[in-house]
Amino acid sequence: MKQRILFLGPPGAGKGTQAERLAASHNLLHLSTGELLRAEVAAGSALGQEAEAVMARGELVSDTLVLAIVRARLTCCNGGWLLDGFPRNLAQADLLQQLLEEIGQPIELVVLLALDDETLVERLLARGRADDNEAVIRNRLVVYSDQTEPLIAYYRAKGLLSSVEATGTVEAIAERISAVVG
Ligand code: AP5
Ligand code: MG
Repeated sequence: MKQRILFLGPPGAGKGTQAERLAASHNLLHLSTGELLRAEVAAGSALGQEAEAVMARGELVSDTLVLAIVRARLTCCNGGWLLDGFPRNLAQADLLQQLLEEIGQPIELVVLLALDDETLVERLLARGRADDNEAVIRNRLVVYSDQTEPLIAYYRAKGLLSSVEATGTVEAIAERISAVVG
């Protein structure tokens, strides 16, 4: 069974939904940079104040800020982990690679959750988070295709990528993920 896993995929693909389930059943630490940033915003911390407007536009928060959040949590523990929504661009992927080399915990698997744009927009509009209005969702999709999608080729070249069809019920998708996690 894989212990150090990344979930990659567009906004609304179900990264959070599936990561929560897999982390619970496999006893992994679930780190969602989006959730951690929303917690900072809710707490009104300096970091949250810096991130809030950027998130409201659907742009990416600075790499250094996000890396600081991840580093603090990954270096604390020796068990397995599941990163959801990080890395988000090639610079973050390189920073993560350096950090993981430092702590001797290489990535074992990258799961790509693949879904068409119209279904993504439908799911997110039905949820209605602060950044789930049509204009911001469309911008998040553009940011994803410009900045995050290049990570697919990056991890495929390292032989780490498994693509999973993210359509159907939560349970059906969870079964496909279990099959690649082992
Ligand atoms: P983040 O929180 O990561 O949001 P996102 O990538 O836009 O993705 P979502 O969380 O919206 O979707 P998801 O794939 O997790 O799907 P979910 O399970 O929720 O990031 C938000 C912002 O924070 C970014 O825009 C950026 O500003 C900042 N940020 C975060 N990380 C960053 C980083 N590393 N660097 C820089 N900035 C960063 O599901 C979506 C909905 O669909 C839910 O309502 C769910 O119930 C439903 N659903 C799930 N599965 C199914 C199913 N099978 N059938 C029907 N409905 C389903
Ligand atoms: Mg999420």
